[in-house]
Amino acid sequence: MTSGIIGTGALGSAIARQLASGGEILRLSSADTKSARELASQIGRAVVVAADNRDALEGAEAVVLALRFTVLKSVIDEIGDSLAGKVVVVPSNPLSTDAHGKVSRVLPDGQSSGEIVAGWLPPGARLAMAFGTLSADVFESSSNRWPEPAVLFYATDDDHAGEEVERLIRVAGFEPARIGGIEQSGRLEVGGDLHDLIVGPAAARSLLSRR
Ligand SMILES: NC(=O)c1ccc[n+]([C@@H]2O[C@H](COP(=O)([O-])OP(=O)(O)OC[C@H]3O[C@@H](n4cnc5c(N)ncnc54)[C@H](OP(=O)(O)O)[C@@H]3O)[C@@H](O)[C@H]2O)c1
Repeated sequence: MTSGIIGTGALGSAIARQLASGGEILRLSSADTKSARELASQIGRAVVVAADNRDALEGAEAVVLALRFTVLKSVIDEIGDSLAGKVVVVPSNPLSTDAHGKVSRVLPDGQSSGEIVAGWLPPGARLAMAFGTLSADVFESSSNRWPEPAVLFYATDDDHAGEEVERLIRVAGFEPARIGGIEQSGRLEVGGDLHDLIVGPAAARSLLSRR
């Protein structure tokens, strides 16, 4: 099946490599297309460099917005009228980095990027918060773990988005675990109890049943 990935930086590249190695056909876009072109040539097969962000959605059931939180809204506004019916997968933590590399949180405590992004999306877009719990290198090194797969947690209010993001999580070499609706998504973000956590399915079930 085909998915779009908008943003081919550290995390978007890692997600693209994992999805492509699991057999997904990808349409990639980035700010100036250079990083998307380089990534496509590294991956080599079943990857198309889209003409622009909107073109990354062409024929795709889902799009991963692998973008910094601070540019998410502008990209959503740019492609918004093509998002109806699409599953929109967002891994973004609500962080910004200043010119000196200092990272700070851009939302008040208690407010998650999932809740904010849900308010930015047009009607009909189907949001799932996923793929942002592990750093890009740990994400790649934890995929296709054997004998027990690692779990990727996700949150959504939409059952169809849940089915599609579970498929993508499996294609990427993980076992999916839904933690609940978007109101729970702060648990996935930096500072949340499920961030940076690598567990197998049994431990994930036990963690989720305790709440
Ligand atoms: N990196 C991680 O380990 C990690 C882990 C968990 C979650 N996350 C989350 O994932 C998100 C992405 O992080 P990252 O580290 O991958 O960031 P990054 O390396 O800075 O990559 C950002 C990507 O966004 C693209 N971009 C910027 N503006 C764009 C626009 N208007 N249209 C299309 N593409 C645009 C950039 O394009 P160019 O390449 O052309 O500049 C770049 O490919 C963040 O929200 C972060 O919180 C990251």
